[in-house]
Amino acid sequence: MKFIEKLHNILSKQQRKNDLENILQTIDTARFDSCRELYKDVDPYPGSSKYLDIRKWMADKVVEAYRLKLNKAKNLSILDIGTGAGYFPYVCNYYGHDAMALDMNIDPMYNALIKLLNIDRLAYEISPYQKLPDFGKKFDLVTAYAICFNNHGRDDLWTASEWRFFMEDLANNYLKENGKVLLVLNRESNSLYYDTALLSFFVQNGAKVDNDRIYFDGVNSFRT
Ligand SMILES: C[S@@+](CC[C@H](N)C(=O)[O-])C[C@H]1O[C@@H](n2cnc3c(N)ncnc32)[C@H](O)[C@@H]1O
Repeated sequence: MKFIEKLHNILSKQQRKNDLENILQTIDTARFDSCRELYKDVDPYPGSSKYLDIRKWMADKVVEAYRLKLNKAKNLSILDIGTGAGYFPYVCNYYGHDAMALDMNIDPMYNALIKLLNIDRLAYEISPYQKLPDFGKKFDLVTAYAICFNNHGRDDLWTASEWRFFMEDLANNYLKENGKVLLVLNRESNSLYYDTALLSFFVQNGAKVDNDRIYFDGVNSFRT
């Protein structure tokens, strides 16, 4: 690696650390601590109680924001699907964007954290071949991390057909002209993120695929 690249990486890492500290300072620690006390044993690691480690997960989302260059961009309209605790939209808002979220309204811990972080979250359960709810606006960027709405871990895991419906709905109804989409998949029981048919579907529609990350720099191929 060239010296200048190395220097850039060091500075960027330092900047991310500073950002993380600044973000954590904006959190009501006393309220967060009572949430942690209440929910820490409800669904222990690898269950959802792991998300109570706010430093770890907020740091993870700061890295994500940097990967998407959201620390440099201005005033983007962002939707985070299956947001869980809402850490990603919180980080987006910290960088001056307008982020909203979607998730089911069934998990008391996520509900408490969403409220604490003051995330604008629409309650909705995604189902195959069902359109998303009306958000009343279009987005520059749609993200979904550690996706479960594709029936992750189940026999009826989404195939290319369900993904096509979902992506066409996003492209036709909820993404701005140059809107972008990042999908981050979970590993399935066979340890793979996708089979070859799903991988070809993503690639043929213009995605850059890097292990679990499926990134669409544009969604024109889904516009009908
Ligand atoms: C593993 S968590 C990931 C949370 C968050 N994206 C993150 O990376 O920190 C999966 C999230 O997807 C949500 N989810 C699962 N099935 C869903 C569905 N059918 N519709 C909407 N959200 C769903 C869960 O409620 C949970 O918040």
